Amino acid sequence: MSTTPVTVTVTGAAGQIGYALLFRIASGAMLGPDTPVRLRLLEIPQAVKAAEGTAMELDDCAFPLLSGVDIYDSAEAAFDSVNVALLVGARPRGPGMERGDLLAANGGIFGPQGAAINKGAASDVRVLVVGNPANTNALIAASHAPDVPASRFTAMMRLDHNRALAQLAARAGVGVAAVSNVTIWGNHSAKQYPDIAHAVIGGRPAPSVIADDAWVADTFVPTVAKRGAAIIEARGASSAASAANAAIDHVRDWVLGTPEGSWTSVGLVSDGSYGVPEGLISGFPCVSRDGQWEIVQGLSVSESAQAGIDVSVGELVEERDAVRELGLI
Ligand code: NAD
Ligand code: LMR
Repeated sequence: MSTTPVTVTVTGAAGQIGYALLFRIASGAMLGPDTPVRLRLLEIPQAVKAAEGTAMELDDCAFPLLSGVDIYDSAEAAFDSVNVALLVGARPRGPGMERGDLLAANGGIFGPQGAAINKGAASDVRVLVVGNPANTNALIAASHAPDVPASRFTAMMRLDHNRALAQLAARAGVGVAAVSNVTIWGNHSAKQYPDIAHAVIGGRPAPSVIADDAWVADTFVPTVAKRGAAIIEARGASSAASAANAAIDHVRDWVLGTPEGSWTSVGLVSDGSYGVPEGLISGFPCVSRDGQWEIVQGLSVSESAQAGIDVSVGELVEERDAVRELGLI
């Protein structure tokens, strides 16, 4: 077992995703069974007491890998020496709030958090933004961290990716493990583009296994893209356990590597690949090698897929322009 604990900071720790996430991190599900972790919980002052309750429960689990839990209401203290930062806490959209209001409120959170990461994080820091709008919040945080490579700021597309795997597996009547190489392009929003063109089901190309273009276009794509809203409608609250699970999957693959021969979907800063404007944080097919995400290159993209990608990337451009206008980046 390694002896130096990895410092993991979770923001919004007293929220519902935080509650589903912290215990799994402490159990070793994220960084493996040989890596001790030190948890830092960041909350707003009003929620610190609730975070203290969660910390008491973490103690009561007696996790062998958990070397300590600290609670903060200051981003600078919470991100000091952080190795893995999970930015979950965000301002939810309230009644009568316009998208611009939400972007402005979140700019006030993710700008200072990016600056705190820039100031104090460990040199190997990896950041995953979960709080919505995740891609643009990641862009805001990255733009306040000029000394940290932009590729270390990622946005979560993994929940959409996992949703796509589950839908395909159910349709094909196979286990989820038989499905790979789906891609979620663009924004984590209802305009995302879930793409099965290069997916594999049981070793065969997914389009020929599914063999039903109408189902893909009219059922699969909208089901995956609107799943977040469907969960809110059914549960009366947004997805939490599945979001926490996706965050665990994302960081685990980033640190420990993606399985040979398969890729996952990551909101990563664009280098211009696949026509996505440089600098946007967009969903791409990615593999992790030696602890770094790389965009899978050279995939053919049909005209209709390109149209779907363009719509989603267009929304990212609008969000970027809105936060630029607000002086947030
Ligand atoms: P929640 O309301 O239960 O919890 C959010 C927590 O964040 C609260 O405890 C709040 O006090 C805290 N918080 C607010 N501002 C903060 C700040 N500046 N610093 C630290 N903490 C702060 O919400 P939740 O269900 O846990 O969801 C959190 C976010 O994740 C939401 O924005 C939600 O839309 C998003 N989400 C993203 C995905 C994805 O796939 N990317 C999936 C599900 C949910
Ligand atoms: C999800 O995909 O489940 C969430 O991003 C939905 C939301 O708006 O919180």
